Amino acid sequence: MALSHARISFHDLQPDAGSFLDDVITGLSQPQKTLSPKYFYDQRGCELFEAICELPEYYPTRTEMAMMQARVREIAQRLGPDCALIEYGSGSSRKTRVLISALNPVAYVPIDIAGEHLKASAVDLAGAFPGLRIIAVCADYSRPLALPDINHLGARRRIVYFPGSTIGNFTVPEAREFLHHARRLAGAGGAMLVGVDLKKNHDVLHAAYNDAQGVTAAFNVNLLARINRELGADFDLVAFRHLAFYNADAGRIEMHLASLKDQKATVGGRVFSFRAGETIHTENSYKYSVAEFQALARAAGFEPEACWTDPQQLFSVHYLAAPH
Ligand code: AVJ
Repeated sequence: MALSHARISFHDLQPDAGSFLDDVITGLSQPQKTLSPKYFYDQRGCELFEAICELPEYYPTRTEMAMMQARVREIAQRLGPDCALIEYGSGSSRKTRVLISALNPVAYVPIDIAGEHLKASAVDLAGAFPGLRIIAVCADYSRPLALPDINHLGARRRIVYFPGSTIGNFTVPEAREFLHHARRLAGAGGAMLVGVDLKKNHDVLHAAYNDAQGVTAAFNVNLLARINRELGADFDLVAFRHLAFYNADAGRIEMHLASLKDQKATVGGRVFSFRAGETIHTENSYKYSVAEFQALARAAGFEPEACWTDPQQLFSVHYLAAPH
C-alpha cells in the first residue's frame, strides 16, 4: 500500500442491497411508475455519466469547472483557512481538486453512494495531495446521516460542498429539507457552497439531455440494465425509449423511459405491465434562477452571501452562510 493511504479512512454506511429491490418495487407500483436517479450510478452508470460530462451539448460540468478555476481564489477567501470540507456526491472529485488546491483544508470528507468509485477517487486524490486527511463515507445522502466524528481534527469551520447541480434531482420541498440538514451539518458559523444550474433557453436545456450521440439515452436505459443485472429482472432493453423534455411549469427537465409496446417485466417475482407509450419517470433536474435559489436557501435557514455566475448565465455557484 502506498504511504498516502495512511491518510485515508473509509466508512461504509451504505444501505443494504434489499432496499434497492424494495425501492424498485415501490416505484413501479405507483400510477406514474418511478425509479430514483440515485440508482443510475453503478460502475457502468458512473462511466456513462463521465461521458455525458464531456458531451458538447452538456454545458453544466465544463461551465462549473471553468467558473471554479476562474473564481477559486475569491471563493477560498470566503471560506477561509482551516476548514473541514465535506462533499456530497463527490463522484470523481474533479472540481474539488481545484477547490482543495486553493483552500488547503484540514480534512476532506467525500460522501458518495458509489462505494468503489469513491474509494478509487480517494486514492487518486491522496496521490495528488499527499498531506490531505481524507475521510471517505459511502452513504445515501438523500436521507439524514450520522457522519463519523471529525471534531478531533480541530477544523475552524465546516464547509458543505455540493457541486454539479445534483440538488436539481430533488423536488423543491425535498431540496429545502436537504438544505436544512446541510445547514445543521455545517453547524453554527459553517457554510455551504452549492452549484446550481440556471433557468435558460429551452432549446439549450433540451439539447443537453438529448445529445446527438445518445450517451444520455444509454445512461437512462442502463438503469433497467442494472435492475436486470443486480435484481435478476427481465426488462427488454430495446423495448424502452429515452425521453427527456423541459417541463416549464415545474421548472425542470424530466427524464423518462417510454415503453415502445404493451409488455410485462418481472422484478423480484412481481410482474409489472406497461402499456405502449407508458413511461417510467427516472429523473428530475430542476433549474433555478439566482433569486429562486436564494429564497429556498433562506427558507432552510441559510444566509445567501455570495453568488458567482458565468458570463453566459448558464450556471451558478452559491455561498450560503450558516448563521451563529
Ligand atoms: C448529476 C443530477 C446534475 O441533472 O444534469 C445528466 C444528471 N442526467 N444527464 C443532471 C444527468 C442526465 C445530472 N446531475
